[in-house]
Amino acid sequence: MRAVHVKKYDSIENIQIDEVAPPSISEGEVLVKVQAASIGFVDGLKVQGLYQTKDPLPFTPGTEFAGVVAEVAENVAGNVKALARGTRVMGLAPNGGLAEYVAAHTSDLHPMPEGVSYEVGAALGTNYPTALYALQARASLQPGECLLVLGAAGGTGTAAIQIGKLLGAHVIAAASTAEKQAFAASTGADAIVDYTQPDWRDALKTATGGHGPDVIFDPVGGPVSQQAFRSIAWNGRHIVVGFASGEIPALKFNLPLLKGGTLVGVDFAQIERREPDVQRQVNAQLIAWLDAGELKPVVGKVFDFEDFHDAFKMMMDRSALGKMVVKIDAD
Ligand SMILES: NC(=O)c1ccc[n+]([C@@H]2O[C@H](COP(=O)([O-])OP(=O)(O)OC[C@H]3O[C@@H](n4cnc5c(N)ncnc54)[C@H](OP(=O)(O)O)[C@@H]3O)[C@@H](O)[C@H]2O)c1
Repeated sequence: MRAVHVKKYDSIENIQIDEVAPPSISEGEVLVKVQAASIGFVDGLKVQGLYQTKDPLPFTPGTEFAGVVAEVAENVAGNVKALARGTRVMGLAPNGGLAEYVAAHTSDLHPMPEGVSYEVGAALGTNYPTALYALQARASLQPGECLLVLGAAGGTGTAAIQIGKLLGAHVIAAASTAEKQAFAASTGADAIVDYTQPDWRDALKTATGGHGPDVIFDPVGGPVSQQAFRSIAWNGRHIVVGFASGEIPALKFNLPLLKGGTLVGVDFAQIERREPDVQRQVNAQLIAWLDAGELKPVVGKVFDFEDFHDAFKMMMDRSALGKMVVKIDAD
């Protein structure tokens, strides 16, 4: 099969598609013929060996995908009936998504609702469960509360805007360029601020009617995180999602005291092990919204398999809008 093949940690230009053996499946797994896979910020770091954990070489990047069940291990239990050969599925794997076939555990796969495209299935992956877990389970976002989304035109940002709206919040999107601000508005944000402007906290104050954001969804980090926390409403919750800016900010402890504010950490990768019941509830809610047509995950840009380099580059050079998706199989 053809797969993006990382033989040594390197810049994305030096990574190729190679002919490799398809993965074998073991207990509890199925083989999925991949139709679309999406790329996240972490994938770009992993390819270069810059992420906090390293995939053993050689490996194929890509943790989020959608496709068709091609083979089911004999000893698979649980939701095997729902995952019979030929079933359209979306799901996650530790890596291997940017290939014609990927092995995945049945607990990480979900049948795709009717009418949902492979590109949308691949885009749902990590960002939407992360956003719902963060906003609902961790920050208890309430209807009518004011949610500020930083990096709002990015992958997690667009998911947070849509989930915030579904939870009944007033959503303010912060993004750096006119194109990104328009994109964030098109995904449902109620107000937009340009957080590259020196006076952006004044614009934020106006957008919240002087109240400040009750919840801040922050996948960016750096100076903007501290500025945002200074504007938080009384009893506000600042959700630490990631550090796309490359800088981990430090917060002076007097600020949570003065603001009555809370810093809330979120790590989606740990939910399955630490809070499996919550993870099931999050997945069930997302599938229900998808089924009902209430959630339409945003696909930023779709690339052909051969052009996978471009998807990585857009992700890494700050020009991506929404989620970057690679089409693996056109049939
Ligand atoms: N905690 C979790 O469970 C979890 C889950 C998923 C992702 N994450 C993390 O969240 C972060 C964002 O992921 P994402 O998928 O939303 O990424 P993304 O699609 O690239 O969006 C990140 C946004 O950050 C802003 N940004 C500011 N400075 C940047 C810089 N120097 N380079 C790139 N972007 C910059 C950009 O918006 P502007 O140009 O508008 O500033 C960009 O749209 C990553 O660190 C990722 O690892 C964490």
